[in-house]
Amino acid sequence: DAVDTAPAIVIGSGYGGAVAALRLGQAGIRTLVLEMGRLWNTPGSDGKVFCSTSAPDQRSMWFRTRTEAPLATFLWLDVVNKNITAYPGVLDRVHFDNMSVFVGRGVGGGSLVNGGMAVTPLQSYFSEQFPTVDAGEMYNTYFPRARSMLGVNTVDPTWFESTEWYRFARTSRKAATNTGLKTTFVPNVYDFDYMQREAAGTATKSALAGEVIYGNNYGKRSLDKTYLASALGTGKVTINTLERVKEIRRASDGSYLLTADRIDTTGKVVETKQYSCTYLFLGAGSLGTTELLLRARETGALPALDASVGTGWGTNGNVMLGRANHLWDTVGANESTIPVMGIDDWANTDNPVFAEIAPLPTGLEHWVSLYLAITKNPERATFSYDPATDSAKLGWSAAQSAVSVSMAKKLFDRINSANSTIYRYDLFGSTSKAFADDFTYHPLGGCVLGKATDTYGRVKGYSKLYVTDGSLVPGSIGVNPFLTITALAERTMTRVLAEDTAS
Ligand code: FDA
Repeated sequence: DAVDTAPAIVIGSGYGGAVAALRLGQAGIRTLVLEMGRLWNTPGSDGKVFCSTSAPDQRSMWFRTRTEAPLATFLWLDVVNKNITAYPGVLDRVHFDNMSVFVGRGVGGGSLVNGGMAVTPLQSYFSEQFPTVDAGEMYNTYFPRARSMLGVNTVDPTWFESTEWYRFARTSRKAATNTGLKTTFVPNVYDFDYMQREAAGTATKSALAGEVIYGNNYGKRSLDKTYLASALGTGKVTINTLERVKEIRRASDGSYLLTADRIDTTGKVVETKQYSCTYLFLGAGSLGTTELLLRARETGALPALDASVGTGWGTNGNVMLGRANHLWDTVGANESTIPVMGIDDWANTDNPVFAEIAPLPTGLEHWVSLYLAITKNPERATFSYDPATDSAKLGWSAAQSAVSVSMAKKLFDRINSANSTIYRYDLFGSTSKAFADDFTYHPLGGCVLGKATDTYGRVKGYSKLYVTDGSLVPGSIGVNPFLTITALAERTMTRVLAEDTAS
């Protein structure tokens, strides 16, 4: 078979992959990005690139015949999920024992489906998680660089106080304030000027039309519009889509050899391709990168990989829950899908929690306050390689999720008690489930910085092999993670381009 050769290959086009691609391209290094998802730039027969959450079609999920939204039910009714045709849709839900992980698929990775919250972690907690990283340099150089490149902005506070679209957030804030808790505005990459025009009726609605987890047709500065557009603009970067890397090995001259399956939109493998490169960057996300390296170590393809590959994985303590407000505390029939506020109780050393005030846009008043709680759950899990299925199995237990639930419950029991309110039990599928503890939006770890790699993401045991994505983060960062992932990738690329690629 013919082998395609490029000086540099990047696997995956999420945050870590996009930063690597841009900085390599700017350095004049010809770079090939391999992405298993599709490019989301072509309108379907309805004139839209992405489908809506209320009427999901094949574009919604990665090779499913029925959608699997995080909120399974409403009033215990199976009204949320819909039958669809199998297709390389934009949102995937990867199932392991006791835990499922939502991830984005396509050019832009998670940026296509996420809530856009761009949060800088508390510096003291960052330092706790990354003791070998110079925090001063991160907070002075790489976090600001990431915020500016990603187009981070903040909702206008005056508009926030008056618009019907954020009544749900104001109602949740009131309940937090009644409890003596601190709330804080959360920056986002969604263009708030565009959102105000949506509200005014002068721009096509996206965040104000329920769009988010299956993609935003307008308003969101996803990576295809920021880092990846600039990467392509260098003229040095090519992105191949619908190509899933299966195997990485090393040739005797030290170059890397890759095998990738190219699929069609039915999922059929239409070609198995061979690639070769000098520099290899792994940006396939916590699950993707960890699986590739674990497989390489366990099959003997890259036997010198560190024993810590596959360890240090966590959910960022994610738990979702809903509260029922009093009849007079309405949340409004109209909710923006873009969260802009959080309850910040991270400084409470007994029970640190940062809870995003999440929307539940149904178009009807439902009195529900929804939250995605990020708890300081210290539990970590390990992946093992299963030769029978050639895949990584996650050793996460229900007891490990229970730790997140008990932390979230401690905080929200206080909020319920101060407001004489109760939990909602109708949202997560079974009859009495108040806490969704079986999924995460924030898979982190598996190839932890300073353990599986050196302190710059250089993989231990092999030269010219790098990790730039969420697998570097040791299971928890206390806030929504993509800004941290982006900033760390910027730091890695600065170092690697200065030290490793000089010819
Ligand atoms: P990411 O997952 O973004 O990208 C990996 C890419 O690699 C994907 O495109 C994937 O298809 C591709 N890939 C994987 N394996 C491959 C293979 N073998 N071959 C080829 N390609 C492969 N975070 C935040 O900070 N604020 C927020 O508001 C939210 N909200 C949110 C909502 C939802 C619904 C989700 C699912 C997630 C969030 N997140 C979030 C999390 C955030 O999106 C996530 O942390 C980042 O996307 C992770 O970035 P990475 O670069 O690690 O991988």
